[in-house]
Amino acid sequence: MKIILLVAKATNQVIGKDNQLVWKLSADLKRFKNLTTGHHLLMGRKTFESLGRPLPNRTHLIITRNPDFVAPEGHFAFHSVEDAIIYCTKHQLDKVFVIGGGEIYKETLPLCDTLEITEVEASPEGDTVFPVLDPQIWKEKEREEFAADENNEYPYAFVTYEKR
Ligand SMILES: NC(=O)c1ccc[n+]([C@@H]2O[C@H](COP(=O)([O-])OP(=O)(O)OC[C@H]3O[C@@H](n4cnc5c(N)ncnc54)[C@H](OP(=O)(O)O)[C@@H]3O)[C@@H](O)[C@H]2O)c1
Repeated sequence: MKIILLVAKATNQVIGKDNQLVWKLSADLKRFKNLTTGHHLLMGRKTFESLGRPLPNRTHLIITRNPDFVAPEGHFAFHSVEDAIIYCTKHQLDKVFVIGGGEIYKETLPLCDTLEITEVEASPEGDTVFPVLDPQIWKEKEREEFAADENNEYPYAFVTYEKR
């Protein structure tokens, strides 16, 4: 099974503030939808809350330490990243997408095979960051760059990294 991490991060590594995203990038949301529809998404409880409701046509695997947390019907809660990965393996998934947030990225990065990173050319204020990648471990495979426009607040690039 492939573990694929998806993130949009700023030049200063910021990924969020007050449990929200800190930019308007329609192209990133569209790409997120295209890549993840029909798949399982692994996320921290705070990221799940920030979505407001489960995203359509995707199974949400929510990580929480709260024993009383109840996942919505058709979605699942786990008390560790490891338990969620075991679930995915048992269900013979070919891939699972790790979709954040900061805590979960930090914990899962060593387990991931591929990183799909939207690199946002901005340095906004924030309270949550993505770890700096170690170039000894991660190799850039593909990069597509785009200018800002009326639907995308900052210049951005879709970059794929693979583990060396
Ligand atoms: N830019 C992006 O691509 C992107 C993507 C996703 C999220 N974000 C942003 O990231 C921020 C949220 O990130 P965050 O770091 O605050 O929270 P998070 O990683 O989404 O969730 C943290 C929560 O996950 C649970 N958790 C973490 N590690 C665990 C473990 N080992 N075992 C069991 N439960 C564990 C805990 O839930 P309990 O407290 O319930 O125990 C913890 O409070 C928001 O600002 C959001 O907008 C950005």
